[in-house]
Amino acid sequence: MAILVTGGCGFIGSHTCVELARAGYDLVVADNFHNAKEEVCNRIETLTGRPLRVYRCDVREEAALCRIFEEQTIEAVIHFAGWKAVGESTRLPLEYYDNNLSGTVTLCKVMQRYGCKRLVFSSSATVYGEENPSPLTEDMPVGQVANPYARTKLFNEWVVKDLCAADPTFCGILLRYFNPIGAHPSGTMGEDPNGIPNNLMPYITGVAVGKLPKLMVFGNDYPTPDGTGIRDYIHVVDLARGHVAAVQYALAHTGAEVINLGTGVGYSVLDVVHAFEEANDLAIPYEIAPRRPGDVTIYCADPSKAERLLGWRAEYGIHDMCRDSWRWQKNNPNGYEE
Ligand code: UD1
Repeated sequence: MAILVTGGCGFIGSHTCVELARAGYDLVVADNFHNAKEEVCNRIETLTGRPLRVYRCDVREEAALCRIFEEQTIEAVIHFAGWKAVGESTRLPLEYYDNNLSGTVTLCKVMQRYGCKRLVFSSSATVYGEENPSPLTEDMPVGQVANPYARTKLFNEWVVKDLCAADPTFCGILLRYFNPIGAHPSGTMGEDPNGIPNNLMPYITGVAVGKLPKLMVFGNDYPTPDGTGIRDYIHVVDLARGHVAAVQYALAHTGAEVINLGTGVGYSVLDVVHAFEEANDLAIPYEIAPRRPGDVTIYCADPSKAERLLGWRAEYGIHDMCRDSWRWQKNNPNGYEE
């Protein structure tokens, strides 16, 4: 019996593979390597001490997915595979809908055909939109989602919820992530974005390693103590452990559950910059720039449902996140490309 991890070579997927193996699960990865490097497989194997079973395939290819289910005994699926860049999604909406929605629908059809009824889906806190006040709880109505990427997350949640409603023996766990940062404490796995990073932490590490001249802080006129935006940053290893807990839960329950994965603690952009400087004894030059369109003032989780249902809570703090992000970047200045 194994857990199928789609997108298992991506940032969150790779860390989840390691935590699944540590928890004693057998795992199989399906990845098309669109946004991941082959080298990730070696790093996962080194950390887990066993060979990784990888299928190079796209989750939209029904026949390829069927082959996995024919050859392996899959008891649950964690579905990460999908595109994730907000800006790109506004330029390539059809590609986003095709990859993210067709991928999920095809995967669910194949799971149904093979009687596999346990699914953990990688959703995002972005579905809360701009209107809901933090701390965000799972029972809040979803908000106005502002871009195609966010809409694919929202529609995919509905795909899974509708499937659970049609088949009461199915279990679908919809994990809404807050802001994943950090890297594996070994310094061998981390985030490796293509091109100039959009997100805060890879940008900071890019500045620290000398690839980017300075950080642009997007707005210091928000109604927060230092004027910069506040987010709930979560260490990727905590997030990965949350997936292990969700799989355990899914194996023993039925129905759909939406669950936040965050720490419940918010940090401003400048808090993160200063924590990074302190944790790593480095200076990060920055400049205040105009607000980035689409950004909200504060986005923080109420993580109590995850603790109640899954017995999970985040353990790493902001200094750990900053230290591990930097260790990864410093040891791998070119990411997974040597
Ligand atoms: C972004 C996405 C969100 C997605 C998430 C995935 C947008 C608008 N939102 O969240 O949909 O689920 O990534 O991780 O893209 N910042 C700077 N300078 C930078 C980069 C960021 O000041 O160079 C600030 C932002 O204004 C924000 C904070 O840092 O206040 C975090 O930004 P980011 O890491 O991009 O995440 P989100 O925007 O919260």
